[in-house]
Amino acid sequence: MPLILGIETSCDETSAAVLSGTGDQTRLDSLVILSQDVHRIFGGVVPELASRAHLTSIVPVAERALADASVTLGDVDAVAVTAGPGLVGALLVGVSFGKAIAHGTGAALVGVHHMEGHLFATSLEHSDAVPPFTALLVSGGHTLLIDVERWGAYRMLGATRDDAAGEAFDKVAKLLGLPYPGGRPIEQLARDGDPTKFRFSKPMVRRNNEEGDADFYDFSFSGLKTAVLNAVRGSDDIERDKAHIARGFQDALIGSLVEKTFRAADAYGRDRIVLGGGVACNSALVGAMAERTSSIGATVFAPKPRLATDNAAMIARAGLFHFERGERSDLDLNAFASQPIPGLVAA
Ligand code: KG4
Ligand code: ZN
Repeated sequence: MPLILGIETSCDETSAAVLSGTGDQTRLDSLVILSQDVHRIFGGVVPELASRAHLTSIVPVAERALADASVTLGDVDAVAVTAGPGLVGALLVGVSFGKAIAHGTGAALVGVHHMEGHLFATSLEHSDAVPPFTALLVSGGHTLLIDVERWGAYRMLGATRDDAAGEAFDKVAKLLGLPYPGGRPIEQLARDGDPTKFRFSKPMVRRNNEEGDADFYDFSFSGLKTAVLNAVRGSDDIERDKAHIARGFQDALIGSLVEKTFRAADAYGRDRIVLGGGVACNSALVGAMAERTSSIGATVFAPKPRLATDNAAMIARAGLFHFERGERSDLDLNAFASQPIPGLVAA
């Protein structure tokens, strides 16, 4: 059985994981995630600081993952490393580290697309979260709606035209004076909010929308953010209104995510919906998704926070898939800020 060491350094988490198994029968032997707190001070990720922090922590993080799995570098069959998309300086730390291990031990090197990793993440926890399914990936950098026919065959249906869903949470949190990252604080605050006080329209959801319309599956959140800004400016008592605005914002954003995902699952006849990315930690989203898609008999799978946010377990899992297909990266593997997901099939 192959043993994979996964490495993830695309943004502000330094992570390493050991995974063994074959096909969908895998075992996560260890997962270490070191989150870089330094960015909180700046209200967003500072790329230069992220690279430097990865550099100081990658070795101990990987050593810890190996030790937790009771294996040594010599046992590793393949090193799966995120090669993009992400912050290039941050990615290069993981890529260089992965190459060094592959070169030194003779293990295979497998470059992994970060978003393909997110597609695999939920299956590590839920054995039924396997293709065919409709995937909604919602993170700080991406909002993607993908029909997954089988592993390695991805039909890209929709994406955000401006801000990512997590980015919208973070920006609105800032407007409301909440800490970064803003997703969790908004979710908590929204629980105390009255949903009828501030109603924002669901972005990109038109009643007469039809499949084939350019905006049928796409998302857009910058207009919603502006609507929130106007509500904040128009409030004569922001302390009183804060929770209501957070609730109105979250309801509108979730409404848009849920509607587009429902359309995709319905159109392609999928009875499984797999969520991924940091915003998938939002229980209001998971609940609303399950409710809206129950009429088509769909089951919603959401990963626990450790697997929803950036982690090396998902990279190891996606890497295993490519490793088992005989795919290898050369030692000249590079890092890419943006990169199309491999295995795209025509929509
Ligand atoms: O996947 P992730 O950890 O990192 C990226 O690849 O971006 O996602 C981070 C994003 C942040 O924007 C954060 O605000 C959001 O996920 N997030 C949430 C929640 N927890 C994290 N958004 C909404 N509700 C949450 N509970
Ligand atoms: Zn991510």
